[in-house]
Amino acid sequence: MAYETITSEARGAVTLITLNRPEALNALNTTVLRELQEAFAAFEADDSQHCAVVTGSGDKAFAAGADIKEMVEKEPADFFLEDFFSGWNDMTAKIRKPWIAAVNGFALGGGCEVAMMADFIIASENAKFGQPEIKLGVAPGMGGSQRLTRAVGKAKAMDLCLTGRMMDAEEAERAGLVARVVPHDQLMDEAMKAAETIAGMPPMAAMINKELVDASFETTLQQGMLHERRLFQILTATQDKAEGMQAFVEKRAANWKGR
Ligand code: CAA
Repeated sequence: MAYETITSEARGAVTLITLNRPEALNALNTTVLRELQEAFAAFEADDSQHCAVVTGSGDKAFAAGADIKEMVEKEPADFFLEDFFSGWNDMTAKIRKPWIAAVNGFALGGGCEVAMMADFIIASENAKFGQPEIKLGVAPGMGGSQRLTRAVGKAKAMDLCLTGRMMDAEEAERAGLVARVVPHDQLMDEAMKAAETIAGMPPMAAMINKELVDASFETTLQQGMLHERRLFQILTATQDKAEGMQAFVEKRAANWKGR
Protein backbone atom coordinates (compact mmCIF):
# COMPACT_ATOMS: atom_id res chain seq x y z
CA MET A 1 0.00 0.00 0.00
CA ALA A 2 1.22 3.54 -0.80
CA TYR A 3 1.40 5.86 2.19
CA GLU A 4 2.27 9.54 2.44
CA THR A 5 4.05 9.74 5.80
CA ILE A 6 5.27 6.20 6.45
CA THR A 7 6.49 3.24 4.41
CA SER A 8 5.61 -0.37 5.09
CA GLU A 9 7.13 -3.39 3.39
CA ALA A 10 7.19 -7.12 3.98
CA ARG A 11 10.71 -8.51 4.23
CA GLY A 12 10.13 -12.23 4.41
CA ALA A 13 7.99 -12.76 7.50
CA VAL A 14 8.92 -9.36 8.99
CA THR A 15 7.01 -6.14 8.29
CA LEU A 16 9.30 -3.10 8.31
CA ILE A 17 7.41 0.13 9.03
CA THR A 18 9.33 3.39 8.69
CA LEU A 19 8.14 6.79 9.93
CA ASN A 20 8.93 8.96 6.95
CA ARG A 21 8.79 12.71 7.57
CA PRO A 22 12.54 13.32 7.95
CA GLU A 23 12.14 17.07 7.27
CA ALA A 24 10.08 17.27 10.50
CA LEU A 25 12.21 14.72 12.39
CA ASN A 26 9.34 12.25 11.81
CA ALA A 27 6.94 14.25 13.98
CA LEU A 28 3.67 12.43 14.53
CA ASN A 29 0.61 14.08 13.03
CA THR A 30 -2.92 12.90 12.27
CA THR A 31 -1.92 11.43 8.91
CA VAL A 32 0.93 9.45 10.51
CA LEU A 33 -1.54 8.08 13.04
CA ARG A 34 -4.07 7.04 10.38
CA GLU A 35 -1.39 5.43 8.24
CA LEU A 36 0.21 3.62 11.17
CA GLN A 37 -3.23 2.31 12.18
CA GLU A 38 -3.67 0.96 8.64
CA ALA A 39 -0.16 -0.52 8.51
CA PHE A 40 -0.56 -2.24 11.91
CA ALA A 41 -3.99 -3.60 10.93
CA ALA A 42 -2.54 -4.97 7.67
CA PHE A 43 0.39 -6.55 9.53
CA GLU A 44 -1.93 -8.17 12.06
CA ALA A 45 -4.25 -9.53 9.35
CA ASP A 46 -1.50 -10.96 7.10
CA ASP A 47 -0.87 -14.62 7.96
CA SER A 48 2.55 -14.51 6.29
CA GLN A 49 3.79 -11.79 8.70
CA HIS A 50 4.99 -12.77 12.17
CA CYS A 51 6.90 -9.80 13.58
CA ALA A 52 7.21 -6.08 12.79
CA VAL A 53 9.95 -3.50 13.21
CA VAL A 54 9.13 0.21 13.46
CA THR A 55 11.90 2.74 12.86
CA GLY A 56 12.41 6.33 11.70
CA SER A 57 13.78 7.49 8.37
CA GLY A 58 17.00 9.47 8.26
CA ASP A 59 19.88 9.43 10.70
CA LYS A 60 18.58 11.88 13.24
CA ALA A 61 15.24 10.83 14.63
CA PHE A 62 12.93 7.95 15.41
CA ALA A 63 10.29 10.64 16.06
CA ALA A 64 10.77 14.04 17.75
CA GLY A 65 7.26 13.93 19.20
CA ALA A 66 3.71 14.81 18.34
CA ASP A 67 3.59 17.45 15.63
CA ILE A 68 3.75 20.75 17.53
CA LYS A 69 2.83 22.71 14.40
CA GLU A 70 -0.42 20.74 14.15
CA MET A 71 -1.22 21.18 17.85
CA VAL A 72 -0.49 24.91 17.89
CA GLU A 73 -3.48 25.48 15.56
CA LYS A 74 -6.02 23.68 17.72
CA GLU A 75 -8.55 25.08 20.17
CA PRO A 76 -8.76 23.48 23.62
CA ALA A 77 -12.26 22.16 22.85
CA ASP A 78 -10.88 20.40 19.72
CA PHE A 79 -8.46 18.36 21.85
CA PHE A 80 -11.27 17.32 24.16
CA LEU A 81 -13.96 16.70 21.54
CA GLU A 82 -11.59 14.69 19.31
CA ASP A 83 -10.33 12.86 22.42
CA PHE A 84 -6.93 13.84 21.03
CA PHE A 85 -4.25 11.11 21.31
CA SER A 86 -6.78 8.36 22.08
CA GLY A 87 -6.13 6.88 18.63
CA TRP A 88 -2.47 6.36 19.56
CA ASN A 89 -3.48 4.47 22.64
CA ASP A 90 -5.75 2.22 20.56
CA MET A 91 -3.28 1.81 17.69
CA THR A 92 -1.40 -1.15 19.08
CA ALA A 93 -3.68 -2.21 21.93
CA LYS A 94 -5.13 -5.08 19.92
CA ILE A 95 -1.95 -6.10 18.07
CA ARG A 96 -1.25 -9.64 19.23
CA LYS A 97 1.83 -10.22 17.08
CA PRO A 98 5.18 -9.04 18.43
CA TRP A 99 6.85 -5.86 17.22
CA ILE A 100 10.10 -4.07 17.96
CA ALA A 101 10.98 -0.36 17.95
CA ALA A 102 14.39 0.28 16.35
CA VAL A 103 15.24 3.71 17.73
CA ASN A 104 17.73 5.47 15.48
CA GLY A 105 17.92 8.95 17.06
CA PHE A 106 15.58 11.29 18.94
CA ALA A 107 12.61 9.55 20.54
CA LEU A 108 10.99 12.47 22.32
CA GLY A 109 7.48 13.02 23.63
CA GLY A 110 5.15 11.03 21.39
CA GLY A 111 8.23 9.45 19.76
CA CYS A 112 9.35 8.00 23.09
CA GLU A 113 5.74 6.98 23.75
CA VAL A 114 5.42 5.10 20.43
CA ALA A 115 8.76 3.36 21.11
CA MET A 116 7.45 2.33 24.55
CA MET A 117 4.31 0.84 22.94
CA ALA A 118 6.61 -1.70 21.25
CA ASP A 119 7.23 -5.07 22.86
CA PHE A 120 10.83 -3.99 23.24
CA ILE A 121 13.25 -1.34 22.07
CA ILE A 122 16.57 -1.81 20.32
CA ALA A 123 18.43 1.50 20.30
CA SER A 124 21.35 2.83 18.32
CA GLU A 125 24.15 4.44 20.31
CA ASN A 126 22.82 7.77 18.96
CA ALA A 127 19.34 7.34 20.44
CA LYS A 128 18.02 9.97 22.84
CA PHE A 129 14.86 9.50 24.88
CA GLY A 130 12.78 12.08 26.71
CA GLN A 131 9.36 13.42 27.67
CA PRO A 132 9.95 17.16 27.17
CA GLU A 133 6.25 18.12 27.00
CA ILE A 134 6.56 20.21 30.17
CA LYS A 135 8.68 22.67 28.19
CA LEU A 136 5.63 23.26 25.95
CA GLY A 137 3.32 23.82 28.90
CA VAL A 138 1.75 20.38 28.67
CA ALA A 139 2.39 16.81 29.82
CA PRO A 140 2.74 13.46 28.03
CA GLY A 141 -0.50 12.42 26.33
CA MET A 142 0.20 9.07 24.66
CA GLY A 143 1.10 7.11 27.77
CA GLY A 144 4.54 8.50 28.60
CA SER A 145 3.91 9.21 32.27
CA GLN A 146 2.53 5.69 32.72
CA ARG A 147 4.75 3.52 30.53
CA LEU A 148 7.98 5.36 31.36
CA THR A 149 7.30 5.03 35.08
CA ARG A 150 6.60 1.32 34.73
CA ALA A 151 9.79 0.88 32.69
CA VAL A 152 12.30 2.96 34.67
CA GLY A 153 10.65 3.62 38.05
CA LYS A 154 9.43 6.80 39.71
CA ALA A 155 12.77 8.55 40.26
CA LYS A 156 13.93 8.63 36.67
CA ALA A 157 10.43 9.12 35.24
CA MET A 158 9.94 12.18 37.47
CA ASP A 159 13.41 13.45 36.54
CA LEU A 160 12.68 13.16 32.80
CA CYS A 161 9.10 14.49 32.90
CA LEU A 162 9.85 17.40 35.25
CA THR A 163 13.17 18.59 33.80
CA GLY A 164 12.37 17.67 30.18
CA ARG A 165 15.97 16.46 29.79
CA MET A 166 16.98 13.72 27.36
CA MET A 167 18.61 10.46 28.33
CA ASP A 168 21.07 8.76 26.02
CA ALA A 169 20.94 5.13 24.93
CA GLU A 170 23.39 3.94 27.55
CA GLU A 171 21.39 5.50 30.39
CA ALA A 172 18.15 4.17 28.87
CA GLU A 173 19.55 0.64 28.78
CA ARG A 174 20.83 0.93 32.35
CA ALA A 175 17.39 2.14 33.43
CA GLY A 176 15.59 -0.77 31.77
CA LEU A 177 13.85 1.20 29.01
CA VAL A 178 15.90 -0.36 26.23
CA ALA A 179 16.59 -4.05 25.65
CA ARG A 180 19.80 -3.63 23.63
CA VAL A 181 22.07 -0.82 22.46
CA VAL A 182 23.94 -1.41 19.21
CA PRO A 183 26.32 0.64 17.02
CA HIS A 184 24.37 3.09 14.88
CA ASP A 185 25.32 1.49 11.56
CA GLN A 186 24.23 -1.94 12.79
CA LEU A 187 20.82 -0.93 14.15
CA MET A 188 18.66 -2.16 11.30
CA ASP A 189 20.63 -5.41 10.86
CA GLU A 190 20.32 -6.16 14.57
CA ALA A 191 16.63 -5.22 14.73
CA MET A 192 15.80 -7.26 11.62
CA LYS A 193 17.79 -10.22 12.98
CA ALA A 194 15.88 -10.10 16.26
CA ALA A 195 12.58 -9.81 14.36
CA GLU A 196 13.47 -12.73 12.10
CA THR A 197 14.32 -14.83 15.15
CA ILE A 198 10.91 -14.04 16.64
CA ALA A 199 9.19 -14.62 13.27
CA GLY A 200 10.80 -18.07 13.23
CA MET A 201 9.11 -19.06 16.51
CA PRO A 202 5.78 -20.89 16.69
CA PRO A 203 3.35 -17.96 16.19
CA MET A 204 0.75 -18.88 18.81
CA ALA A 205 3.48 -19.29 21.42
CA ALA A 206 4.89 -15.88 20.41
CA MET A 207 1.49 -14.23 20.83
CA ILE A 208 0.93 -15.88 24.19
CA ASN A 209 4.41 -14.99 25.49
CA LYS A 210 3.68 -11.36 24.56
CA GLU A 211 0.25 -11.46 26.19
CA LEU A 212 1.70 -12.88 29.41
CA VAL A 213 4.46 -10.31 29.82
CA ASP A 214 1.94 -7.52 29.12
CA ALA A 215 -0.48 -9.02 31.64
CA SER A 216 2.13 -8.69 34.39
CA PHE A 217 1.54 -4.91 34.33
CA GLU A 218 -2.19 -5.29 34.89
CA THR A 219 -2.56 -8.09 37.46
CA THR A 220 -1.53 -9.25 40.88
CA LEU A 221 1.27 -11.83 41.05
CA GLN A 222 -1.12 -14.68 41.92
CA GLN A 223 -3.63 -13.81 39.18
CA GLY A 224 -0.79 -13.37 36.70
CA MET A 225 0.73 -16.72 37.59
CA LEU A 226 -2.63 -18.47 37.24
CA HIS A 227 -3.13 -16.79 33.84
CA GLU A 228 0.38 -17.92 32.86
CA ARG A 229 -0.20 -21.52 33.95
CA ARG A 230 -3.51 -21.74 32.09
CA LEU A 231 -2.04 -20.35 28.87
CA PHE A 232 0.92 -22.71 29.21
CA GLN A 233 -1.55 -25.57 29.53
CA ILE A 234 -3.54 -24.36 26.52
CA LEU A 235 -0.35 -24.20 24.42
CA THR A 236 0.29 -27.88 25.18
CA ALA A 237 -2.75 -28.64 22.99
CA THR A 238 -1.15 -27.12 19.88
CA GLN A 239 0.40 -29.05 17.03
CA ASP A 240 3.44 -26.83 17.44
CA LYS A 241 3.98 -27.99 21.02
CA ALA A 242 3.98 -31.61 19.82
CA GLU A 243 6.31 -30.72 16.95
CA GLY A 244 8.62 -28.55 19.06
CA MET A 245 9.18 -31.16 21.73
CA GLN A 246 9.45 -34.06 19.23
CA ALA A 247 11.99 -32.07 17.16
CA PHE A 248 14.06 -31.47 20.30
CA VAL A 249 14.06 -35.18 21.17
CA GLU A 250 14.95 -36.12 17.58
CA LYS A 251 17.65 -33.40 17.43
CA ARG A 252 16.21 -31.78 14.31
CA ALA A 253 14.77 -28.38 13.39
CA ALA A 254 11.07 -27.97 14.09
CA ASN A 255 8.61 -27.44 11.27
CA TRP A 256 5.97 -25.09 12.67
CA LYS A 257 2.34 -25.29 11.58
CA GLY A 258 1.18 -22.14 13.36
CA ARG A 259 -1.59 -24.14 15.00
N1 CAA B 1 6.72 18.83 15.79
C1 CAA B 1 6.79 19.52 14.61
N2 CAA B 1 7.97 19.79 14.00
C2 CAA B 1 9.10 19.37 14.60
C3 CAA B 1 9.08 18.65 15.83
C4 CAA B 1 7.81 18.38 16.42
N3 CAA B 1 7.71 17.69 17.57
N4 CAA B 1 10.36 18.40 16.18
C5 CAA B 1 11.14 18.91 15.21
N5 CAA B 1 10.39 19.51 14.25
C6 CAA B 1 10.83 20.19 13.04
C7 CAA B 1 11.45 21.54 13.37
O1 CAA B 1 10.44 22.54 13.52
C8 CAA B 1 12.31 21.78 12.13
O2 CAA B 1 11.49 22.20 11.09
P1 CAA B 1 11.91 23.47 10.17
O3 CAA B 1 13.16 23.01 9.47
O4 CAA B 1 10.74 23.64 9.26
O5 CAA B 1 12.17 24.59 11.10
C9 CAA B 1 12.81 20.37 11.81
O6 CAA B 1 11.90 19.46 12.45
C10 CAA B 1 14.21 20.09 12.34
O7 CAA B 1 14.19 20.34 13.73
P2 CAA B 1 15.24 21.33 14.45
O8 CAA B 1 15.74 22.37 13.51
O9 CAA B 1 14.64 21.80 15.73
O10 CAA B 1 16.43 20.29 14.73
P3 CAA B 1 17.53 20.37 15.89
O11 CAA B 1 18.54 19.33 15.57
O12 CAA B 1 17.99 21.77 16.08
O13 CAA B 1 16.76 19.96 17.25
C11 CAA B 1 15.25 18.61 18.57
C12 CAA B 1 16.25 18.67 17.38
C13 CAA B 1 16.02 18.83 19.89
C14 CAA B 1 14.62 17.23 18.57
C15 CAA B 1 14.20 19.73 18.40
O14 CAA B 1 13.66 19.63 17.08
C16 CAA B 1 13.05 19.64 19.37
O15 CAA B 1 13.20 20.00 20.51
N6 CAA B 1 11.86 19.16 18.91
C17 CAA B 1 10.67 19.11 19.72
C18 CAA B 1 10.72 18.00 20.74
C19 CAA B 1 9.46 18.00 21.58
O16 CAA B 1 9.16 18.94 22.28
N7 CAA B 1 8.69 16.90 21.51
C20 CAA B 1 7.47 16.74 22.24
C21 CAA B 1 6.30 17.18 21.41
S1 CAA B 1 4.77 17.20 22.35
C22 CAA B 1 4.29 15.61 22.43
O17 CAA B 1 4.90 14.71 21.88
C23 CAA B 1 3.04 15.38 23.25
C24 CAA B 1 2.77 13.94 23.59
O18 CAA B 1 2.88 13.50 24.69
C25 CAA B 1 2.31 13.04 22.58
